[in-house]
Amino acid sequence: MNMRVPQLSFEPADELAALCKAGGDPLRLNVLRALANDSFGVLELAQIFAIGQSGMSHHLKVLAQAGLVATRREGNAIFYRRALAQGDALGGTLHAALLSEADGLALPAEAQARIAEVHARRAATSRDFFARTAASFQAQQDLIAGLPQYRDSVLALLDALDLAHEATALEVGPGDGSFLPELARRFKRVTALDNSAAMLELARQRCEKHGLGNVELRLADALNDDYPGADCLVLNMVLHHFAAPAEALKQLARRVNHGGSLLISELCSHDQSWARQACGDLWLGFEQDDLARWASAAGLIPGDSQYVGLRNGFQIQVRHFAKPDEHTGPRATLTHR
Ligand SMILES: C[S@@+](CC[C@H](N)C(=O)[O-])C[C@H]1O[C@@H](n2cnc3c(N)ncnc32)[C@H](O)[C@@H]1O
Repeated sequence: MNMRVPQLSFEPADELAALCKAGGDPLRLNVLRALANDSFGVLELAQIFAIGQSGMSHHLKVLAQAGLVATRREGNAIFYRRALAQGDALGGTLHAALLSEADGLALPAEAQARIAEVHARRAATSRDFFARTAASFQAQQDLIAGLPQYRDSVLALLDALDLAHEATALEVGPGDGSFLPELARRFKRVTALDNSAAMLELARQRCEKHGLGNVELRLADALNDDYPGADCLVLNMVLHHFAAPAEALKQLARRVNHGGSLLISELCSHDQSWARQACGDLWLGFEQDDLARWASAAGLIPGDSQYVGLRNGFQIQVRHFAKPDEHTGPRATLTHR
């Protein structure tokens, strides 16, 4: 007699099994480790782990099916990043534990060296852009957003800080120095640090024109060179030029004195890929949540923010992040009123 056995459905278990399968491979665990603080394209990951592109695509597909990685389109390119664990969803605990265990892995030295090469290539693209285009800086800026469009928002957040008389500021990537007169007026000493000699020369001319006696200009790379910290670090439209923005925020947060502030103006996430060629942008803006998460991971506390919508469709986020005082939380002299 032919007995039909009803087929049991294991759908929820299938999901868990996909997660276990995705985690059950040393290369995939190392890919998750590499994506801890960064996002890469499939070709970059194939180079980093020295395997063929189709092999890497397969591994990424398995990770994506398990919900461990997500993609983000940046113009024509697709970047892979870790997907965040959904705490109360099925597999959420395992997902979080897997990422946390992967974080304890030391990436092979060769993979680390190739990640550094990817970052160096990205950084060189950005540096070359500003070296080539300093003469037409303002026109380039105006294609998306010029300082006049976000200046008031940055000043609103800045002026809400109780600044001590002796407070210091550091502007990373001052461009042509248009914001330096505002900083010079509000801080005892200001350092303006740029890795482009051509841009720094524009900033020097601006300081001279305005007779700014308390601004020191420094030719230095904000991420690779040494320089003193400050009570307030200002980063206007610079983060999207950094090779690895989440890591950059960690490094910059170390330059903010305890009890001090980091002010960031940035584009919100957009899909206008022409900005890469026309404005030298490495990243097409950022999600608000990503900035907050990266800042928190850097030991900063998200504070007030302002958003500016532009007529050309771009949106700007201006964000304040506080660095807690070592012992007592944000310092009375540099906290938000
Ligand atoms: C788009 S411009 C922004 C200029 C200005 N802050 C503004 O809002 O108009 C970016 C500036 O960041 C500088 N920059 C990019 N990467 C840098 C780095 N790693 N270290 C220091 N400066 C950097 C560039 O040379 C350029 O002057």
